[in-house]
Amino acid sequence: MADFVAAVDQGTTSTRFMIFDHGGNEVGRHQLEHQQILPQAGWVEHNPIEIWDRTVSVIRTAMQQANLQASDLAALGVTNQRETTVVWDRRTGRPYYNAIVWQDTRTDRIASALDRDGRGDVIRRKAGLPPATYFSGGKIQWILENVDGVRAAAERGDAVFGNTDSWLLWHLTGGVDGGNHITDVTNASRTMLMNLETLDWDDELLSFFGIPRQMLPEIRPSSDPNTYGVAHAPGPLGGDVPLTGDLGDQQAATVGQVCFAPGEAKNTYGTGNFMLLNTGTELVRSNNGLLTTVCYKLGDAPAVYALEGSIAVTGSAVQWLRDQLHIINEASESETLAATVPDTGGVYFVPAFSGLFAPYWRSDARGAIVGLSRFNTGAHLARAALESICYQSRDVVEAMAQDSGVTLDVLKVDGGITANELCMQIQADVLGVAVSRPVVAETTALGAAYAAGLAVGFWKSTDELRENWNESRRWQPAWTPEQREQGYGRWKKAVQRTLDWVD
Ligand code: G3P
Repeated sequence: MADFVAAVDQGTTSTRFMIFDHGGNEVGRHQLEHQQILPQAGWVEHNPIEIWDRTVSVIRTAMQQANLQASDLAALGVTNQRETTVVWDRRTGRPYYNAIVWQDTRTDRIASALDRDGRGDVIRRKAGLPPATYFSGGKIQWILENVDGVRAAAERGDAVFGNTDSWLLWHLTGGVDGGNHITDVTNASRTMLMNLETLDWDDELLSFFGIPRQMLPEIRPSSDPNTYGVAHAPGPLGGDVPLTGDLGDQQAATVGQVCFAPGEAKNTYGTGNFMLLNTGTELVRSNNGLLTTVCYKLGDAPAVYALEGSIAVTGSAVQWLRDQLHIINEASESETLAATVPDTGGVYFVPAFSGLFAPYWRSDARGAIVGLSRFNTGAHLARAALESICYQSRDVVEAMAQDSGVTLDVLKVDGGITANELCMQIQADVLGVAVSRPVVAETTALGAAYAAGLAVGFWKSTDELRENWNESRRWQPAWTPEQREQGYGRWKKAVQRTLDWVD
């Protein structure tokens, strides 16, 4: 058998291709950013053609640099930014509109209308999600209503919907020459259109958004021995590789962190933060602002569910300091600048740029910086940005404890910001819980590779995967309980300001 498994990780800011060996060690990678298109306040788009072009480039470059051929790969997985919505013409491959990104709030009216007449409660019960701009259903409706010709084409079966996983799988399996239109249960669980119990598209939910069923991809397991198809020549791999893993990126990270037992959780620090708690085959409904979502489904085994706390803006708050305020030149400078001061000097920063997600779900919230005095500098603001990442995670940890009764004794972390040692120390301080980072911090791509590899027998079981997990660093809380509770109390007051702001 071939010695490696690979995965495409199509994220919000970049696309990467990573290759792993049997021990879960990285043997090659390449990554390229794509453009963030911001046509007006609250709108965020990506160009799907650019995303496919970048995918081709990262695959070719990583394979060349690692000196590997398609025959060296036992299987290929795909993982993706979830919810981001592409509608394209399956005959020509032409997108009808840019991808509408998960952070985009243009569907605010669609989402709030759902809550005015009881449809919101049906969505909560069947899909496990609160009606919000975040999810794909409203974005598809917006395209159907605002882009000429799409509704008729959808009814004919020509215009099809997918998250970026489906868009890439369709291209990788042949595109206009018979590509397969497929997604997995985890991605489908982020649309407001799938019933969490039947794991199928739900006609009542589709009717809420006026979406023709024929637009939707076939829903498959996240790890599928039957394959989603074969990535073959003349594709970017230049040879046949079975496509057998597909998960939304946060679910993939949960698999990469080997959270296979109920009660195990991980927190991923990317553009936003996403904490998932494995609840096993039981569907746990949240009373505290968390989502119920599919965690993964491995082949014929029953689906495993998760409670999720989604936070829209964490890493992107640091990017905002860099790109809009210009107080740092590189994201990594947030650590050095913040470390020049011992605390935030009384400043609290709530980066509610896309409203507030979990546990508040207020799309009308807007960001706030409070507690300023003339004494404050950019260093205090940088430190407050790092604290905001950690306080938002504490909000989610509190909600999880209330919903599930599970209190964490250690938080497994991964993602870009976990390289920021100061931020991880603050996270332990704010939570009063140890924070643990694995050796392979790219758990998203690793999780998709694991799903693909399990399907073809490259790995035999999830127990085998557990043996690959090793800790690289652990942070212990240093704040006193008084410091912790005083800080958190002020954070909650600052959050309240962002909710009070709107008329
Ligand atoms: O739900 C959105 C999430 O999947 C985006 O993750 O890492 O691409 O920002 P990321």
